[in-house]
Amino acid sequence: MKDISFLAKWAKKFWKKVPDQVVRLSIPILILIIGFIVMRNLLVPSDFGKYGHFRAAAIDELVSQEIQYSEHEMCFECHDDVVKAKNMSYHRGVECEVCHGPAAAHIEDPEGNQLPAPRERGYCPLCHEYLPSRPTGFPQIVSESHNPFRACVSCHDAHDPKPPTVPKECEACHAEIARTKALSHHVYISCIRCHKTPKEHNIRPRAHRPEKPSTREFCGECHDEKAPSAKGVPRVNMETHGERYVCWQCHYPHLPEAH
Ligand code: HEC
Ligand code: HEC
Ligand code: HEC
Ligand code: HEC
Ligand code: HEC
Ligand code: HEC
Ligand code: HEC
Ligand code: HEC
Repeated sequence: MKDISFLAKWAKKFWKKVPDQVVRLSIPILILIIGFIVMRNLLVPSDFGKYGHFRAAAIDELVSQEIQYSEHEMCFECHDDVVKAKNMSYHRGVECEVCHGPAAAHIEDPEGNQLPAPRERGYCPLCHEYLPSRPTGFPQIVSESHNPFRACVSCHDAHDPKPPTVPKECEACHAEIARTKALSHHVYISCIRCHKTPKEHNIRPRAHRPEKPSTREFCGECHDEKAPSAKGVPRVNMETHGERYVCWQCHYPHLPEAH
């Protein structure tokens, strides 16, 4: 007992010496520490951290969930014709279950668990509706004007979609650029005047790329003051006009503007 009263006295003395601001600061710190301990014990499940940064019981919960998706290899057993056709087609990268939904139950009992097939016209535009953010060259349509009112699958085989003919015009795949150019000062310059394009590009566009202009001199062929260009072509002094940049850092080549 004697020891303790001595300790209490010493603590009181020490406490008086502590500056006020430290006392005040220690209050929120204390609240934080107590808060953390309370949270840790009340809110964090007891099996948290047993194996890692997650609840140990979560593994069993996930394992006990019903399996809904299957593998597309499983379809081959009964639909080998469809699988073979699709694997050779433009849709080879789109899994069966993307369009037909989870199929695990169907494989167990095909007649009892029929799968839906997205025959309605609204479905395919989920991927194919024209969107400026899609990569250039991805097959896109404006569904309002692309053969309206008829189901997509009445003309396109969903498992082997192909454009009925190999497109010859650049516009078939680069409609946005073609439409832009048609309204520009460059309307009469053909695409291939600026992009030397191999024939194979129309068939396997990503494997055979066209050339793109790479130097200022290319635009200078028509626009240099000194060029023997036709009348009416606006000219610039190549030495002083935007001399530190390539032209298309300031002028979009498919819609060049100067005013
Ligand atoms: C064990 C054999 C078997 C397997 C495996 C199987 N199916 Fe089927 N599937 C059938 C049978 C049989 C039918 C016909 C059912 C009927 O018409 O009553 C069918 C019908 C379908 C249909 C037709 C729906 C319609 O509206 O016409 C689709 C779609 C389908 N299966 C997709 C799949 C997919 C996707 C897989 C792979 C994940 C798959 N099936 C795996 C046997 C199988
Ligand atoms: C891009 C979406 C899409 C993908 C991917 C797809 N299907 Fe289909 N599938 C459809 C549509 C739409 C129909 C309905 C076609 C019709 O009625 O003309 C269909 C019909 C079917 C049918 C009914 C019979 C037939 O041949 O028309 C079967 C079976 C089938 N699909 C299996 C599969 C399997 C197996 C895969 C994967 C190898 C697969 N589908 C991938 C959209 C798709
Ligand atoms: C999950 C996205 C997805 C869905 C849904 C989808 N497609 Fe596709 N489609 C693709 C991809 C990816 C390609 C290949 C693009 C490439 O080769 O650059 C493609 C290619 C095509 C092409 C080839 C066109 C060309 O000129 O190369 C046609 C036609 C097509 N799809 C029609 C359809 C139809 C009809 C449906 C509905 C039954 C459909 N698609 C549903 C992703 C999809
Ligand atoms: C009446 C028949 C018909 C219908 C219906 C139809 N298409 Fe087409 N589709 C064509 C033809 C023909 C072409 C090739 C010529 C063209 O680009 O117009 C084509 C081309 C395409 C292309 C390739 C475009 C490109 O730039 O490579 C896609 C993608 C496509 N269709 C998707 C669809 C989708 C999605 C639907 C449903 C909303 C649909 N089609 C409905 C006949 C049809
Ligand atoms: C069958 C569809 C198709 C046709 C037809 C087509 N292109 Fe392309 N084009 C593509 C695709 C797909 C890409 C690659 C886009 C990407 O990788 O982002 C591409 C890319 C390009 C590029 C960019 C190359 C690069 O390395 O950045 C140019 C330039 C181009 N095309 C010009 C043309 C011209 C000119 C024509 C007509 C003579 C044409 N294309 C016809 C589909 C097509
Ligand atoms: C006056 C010359 C000129 C004409 C005409 C022209 N282009 Fe281009 N194009 C360019 C230049 C310059 C670039 C940009 C090069 C760069 O950024 O590296 C380019 C870039 C591209 C690209 C890749 C970048 C993008 O914007 O997606 C595609 C695709 C393309 N052009 C397609 C076409 C098509 C299709 C036509 C015809 C409708 C066409 N071009 C007409 C000069 C031209
Ligand atoms: C084959 C010749 C030719 C080539 C190559 C060419 N242009 Fe042009 N350009 C023209 C013609 C012709 C006009 C004027 C058309 C008109 O106003 O009727 C023009 C107009 C312009 C204008 C003025 C637009 C305005 O608002 O008055 C700019 C800017 C321009 N081009 C930039 C470029 C750039 C950048 C390149 C290189 C990527 C390029 N041009 C390549 C022929 C060419
Ligand atoms: C740093 C930005 C920049 C660069 C790089 C640039 N321009 Fe320009 N350009 C402009 C501006 C701003 C105008 C409009 C004001 C003016 O006439 O100077 C213009 C105007 C023009 C005009 C119209 C002149 C007229 O009299 O109507 C042409 C043609 C042109 N540029 C071609 C080119 C060509 C070709 C190149 C590459 C060799 C190029 N520009 C590089 C910014 C640039």
